[in-house]
Amino acid sequence: MSKLAIIGGTGLTELEGLEITDREMLNTPYGDPSSPLFHGTYYGKSVVFLARHGVRHSIPPHKVNYRANIWSIKALGIQTVIAVAAVGGIHPEMRPKELVIPDQVIDYTYSREHTFFADDFNQVTHIDFTQPYCQELREQLLKAAAPFDFKVHSQGVYGATQGPRLETAAEINRMERDGCDIVGMTGMPEAALARELELCYATCAVVANPAAGHGLTPITMAEIEATLKQGIENVRQLLGAVIR
Ligand code: HPA
Repeated sequence: MSKLAIIGGTGLTELEGLEITDREMLNTPYGDPSSPLFHGTYYGKSVVFLARHGVRHSIPPHKVNYRANIWSIKALGIQTVIAVAAVGGIHPEMRPKELVIPDQVIDYTYSREHTFFADDFNQVTHIDFTQPYCQELREQLLKAAAPFDFKVHSQGVYGATQGPRLETAAEINRMERDGCDIVGMTGMPEAALARELELCYATCAVVANPAAGHGLTPITMAEIEATLKQGIENVRQLLGAVIR
């Protein structure tokens, strides 16, 4: 695997165990990335880490500068990106703390800067997005997951919502009818931008809660944070295994 970038989401604003050797704040044509790019060694391999919501977790999903984040990773010459994302579970088998390596996405977001091909009509490029995630990287993640005793679902449809509010029960029911298995707020346009820049990009989603209307109680941030603590530990183990 070529040098890897990890984009950390909610619950992963720092990559515990990353021995940081350098931090770099890149200027991009699209503005500032969410955080410096942290260069370092993780499980003996050189990786770059970026905190999607900023190092203080202060940038909400609809305000993340996805273009600057992806552009800055590409500018470092990196080809491979694992994006970690907290999600709600829609599919009844996708339960809190479990991981999902989605293979498809449905985009319900709006008003986000979602393309690098926005301005110059001479250069408009319609990327193929039939398979939105890098299959090779997904397979590596799934192979690395095999020995663990926590559940890693080998496929799933990620529904990307606008946020920052959580969904209504009816919205989740509609998403379920659409075929969504998990719901999160940051999966798009990140995946599409990565494809526009020809990065090999896959998502490791960690289920933080049953989606709206699918649990017995209302969703609270306290519940999400508590669940993510354990779920992120599973993510760390998987990242370690795939890097090794
Ligand atoms: N919905 C959207 N995004 C999320 C959720 C959810 O239920 N849980 C964690 N991120």
